[in-house]
Formats: sequence, structure tokens, C-alpha cells
Amino acid sequence: MSDNQILQGDSLEIMKSMETSSIDCVIVDPPYAGFNLGRGPRQYWASFKPFFDEMVRVAKDPKRICLSQPQGRQEIFKAQMQSPQSVVLRDAFIDKRGRDAFFLLQNPLTSEVADEENWPSDIVPKTIHPNERSINQMAVLVKMMSRPGELVFDPFCGSGAIGVAAVLLGRRHLGIELMEDRADDARARLEAAEQAAKARG
Ligand SMILES: C[S@@+](CC[C@H](N)C(=O)[O-])C[C@H]1O[C@@H](n2cnc3c(N)ncnc32)[C@H](O)[C@@H]1O
Repeated sequence: MSDNQILQGDSLEIMKSMETSSIDCVIVDPPYAGFNLGRGPRQYWASFKPFFDEMVRVAKDPKRICLSQPQGRQEIFKAQMQSPQSVVLRDAFIDKRGRDAFFLLQNPLTSEVADEENWPSDIVPKTIHPNERSINQMAVLVKMMSRPGELVFDPFCGSGAIGVAAVLLGRRHLGIELMEDRADDARARLEAAEQAAKARG
């Protein structure tokens, strides 16, 4: 069986079935709105907290967790996390939610912001996802949060951009996506990343 997997379903339910301290790090880019997560910062946090609590439970100590949130919710999230480092990825142009992407990194392996990658755009198939992140930019977070061989977990994986970057960088990946067509799409991209990683040795 592959070291990498995309599960389809509600990540809260799936995480509840996962073992405590079973993954090396979480890197996640949850929906900014919708999916019953609410719009105001406090309402959003209240809906998101059960997911966050499960991410903390399944992560090994010292709980390496990296998540994206818009600027308007940074303060409330910072207050809930353990002194997270802010990393802004400029011109996150593939994503339609704004020009830049804001990530909070709790317990990164290094505070030095890593370099983006320069993989060709056809290294994995194009996605059907409307809010795809750039795999070259996701590489920055993968390098800061994980070591080669470790398991990178993304419970809202969408097009699988974080997983694709993780696999291309020699990490293992577990992703969860609610929508069946998006989960199939992410699986195809992850398989292409496995092939590309093998071909590159
Ligand atoms: C912002 S997108 C992720 C984008 C992703 N980082 C990428 O680069 O493609 C968030 C994803 O979470 C999924 N989602 C929403 N609620 C979910 C849930 N309860 N469990 C799992 N996935 C969920 C959505 O279908 C959506 O694809």
C-alpha cells in the first residue's frame, strides 16, 4: 500500500477515529467561509475549535501545526495557538480568496522562512478545485514544518496542493476532503507526485 492517502469524508469524524499522537505535523488551509464554519471571527473560531482540538490531539508533541487564516481572524487564532510564527506567502495568485496567503506556524522546525520551489506547472494534473494553492508555495511550509520521511496531515486537503508538495519533498501524506470529486482529483494529483518523486530519485 502507498505511504500516501486521501480519505473522503468529514474530517472531524475521521479525525475522531485516528490515534492520539499519530502524525508528525498538520499543515492545513481550511475554508475561509461556508461549510457551517461561520463568518465573524468568534463565530468561526467556535465552529472550528472541535476540528482544531482533534488536530492537536492527533499530532505528536510538540504539536507542529500550521494553518491558514485571513488577516481578520489572525488575532483570535494567535491567541488560541502556542506563540505561532506568521508567514505571509505573497501573490498566492492561484487562490481566489485574496492576493496573499497568511499562515500561522506553531512549533515550526525552523523560524527561517524556507525557499519556494520551482516545479513545472505540469508536474501534476490540473485541478478542478476553485481555491487551489500553489504547490511551489506550499513547499515553503512543508520544509519549515517537517523532515523528510515524516507524515504531513491536511484535514481539509482540497486539490491536495499541500500533499503534493509534501510528497515531492520526500514526506508522506494523509489528506481528508469532504467532497468526493475533489478527493478523487487530489488522489490523482498525489499519485502523479509519487511518480514524479520516484522519477527524480
Ligand atoms: C480552502 S479549501 C483547501 C484548498 C487546498 N489547500 C488546495 O490548495 O487546494 C478547503 C477544502 O476543505 C473541504 N472541506 C470543507 N469542510 C470539510 C470537512 N468537514 N471535512 C473535510 N474537508 C472539508 C472543502 O471541500 C474544500 O475543498
